[in-house]
Amino acid sequence: MTELTKETVLDALKAVQDPDLHQDIVALGFVQDLTVCGGGVKFTLELTTPACPVKEELKQQAHDAVAALEGAEQVTVNLTAKVKSSLPEGNDLGGNIGHVLAVTSGKGGVGKTTTTVNLAVALSQAGAKVGILDADVYGPNIPVMMGIQGKPTGGADGQIVPMTAHGVKTISVGNLVEDGQPVMWRGPMLHKALEQFLKEVHWGSLDYLIVDMPPGTGDAQISLAQLVPLSGAVVVTMPPEVSLTDVRRAIGMCKKVKCPILGVVENMSGDIFGTGGGKKTAEAYDLPYLGTVPLHPDVRQAGDSGTPVVLSHPDSAAAKAYVSLAGKVAREISKKQSQQLPLLEV
Ligand SMILES: Nc1ncnc2c1ncn2[C@@H]1O[C@H](COP(=O)(O)OP(=O)(O)O)[C@@H](O)[C@H]1O
Ligand SMILES: [Mg+2]
Repeated sequence: MTELTKETVLDALKAVQDPDLHQDIVALGFVQDLTVCGGGVKFTLELTTPACPVKEELKQQAHDAVAALEGAEQVTVNLTAKVKSSLPEGNDLGGNIGHVLAVTSGKGGVGKTTTTVNLAVALSQAGAKVGILDADVYGPNIPVMMGIQGKPTGGADGQIVPMTAHGVKTISVGNLVEDGQPVMWRGPMLHKALEQFLKEVHWGSLDYLIVDMPPGTGDAQISLAQLVPLSGAVVVTMPPEVSLTDVRRAIGMCKKVKCPILGVVENMSGDIFGTGGGKKTAEAYDLPYLGTVPLHPDVRQAGDSGTPVVLSHPDSAAAKAYVSLAGKVAREISKKQSQQLPLLEV
């Protein structure tokens, strides 16, 4: 009888592959705190994101691979996740931030802010630490859609303390200017505002900072890309051809500012606007397709009431689409990161 040892267990675990990263979980460094005591085996699987859509499958496969070994009587697998930062060490952001990603589109009204809040809440519900930066300084909608009233406070160190709603830290011009006051800033002030939001807000420790972009493909995109290395952009589109033309422009802008595109999501899909355009665009540009969110009054109502649909109607098709979107976004980020960074061997 072969004795059960750490080596035999690790050998068995090498048979389990991460479907996205295309490497085995031992080579990826996921297996931690392995103990073998008689027939009892215990270890932790540390994934690259808590929003990993296949985490339960990986856990089961790892469990089964070890349980099949001779002498293995009790196998305990703990699941955890650690999001590795893609930002340079010692950066001057106002916190310890893993990834900055943008939600963008070619034009307004397609559902960027709706996507931002639902993506943020879904990632947070999966266990990630999430922030939202409202970069739409001319028409800030984040406070309404997140249900945040009042003003953020100043911290002892002079930094602004973000406001938290539904587990997500947020900052928006909407909470800084008086209600109903028009925001009439020019380009340089927009840049300054984004810089302050990135550097002078007490973000603390965040896995994902999601930036809700203003409509258009101009100043804000360029400023953001200059201020911080972006892990990627989620491009939101609506089905009709007219908005797809705008999407092409948005994709062009991402390429221009060297922001990787995480994928395309089609919002407000259904009878009125049709369906399938987002997928076609994704295919045409060889981009991941992140899913289809149906047009439904609940989505708008949830936004108006300040409780995103993933929380207010968790069983709705729209909520499920956003949860799936969150998993795909997290996984695209992990994939892109693993292609760029050398991974440690165990
Ligand atoms: N899937 C959807 N179904 C129904 N209404 C939606 C959907 N997505 C967004 N909306 C509504 O459409 C309007 C525009 O969405 P919004 O997220 O503000 O777009 P953007 O940020 O791109 O300008 C909002 O009133 C929002 O509630
Ligand atoms: Mg918006």
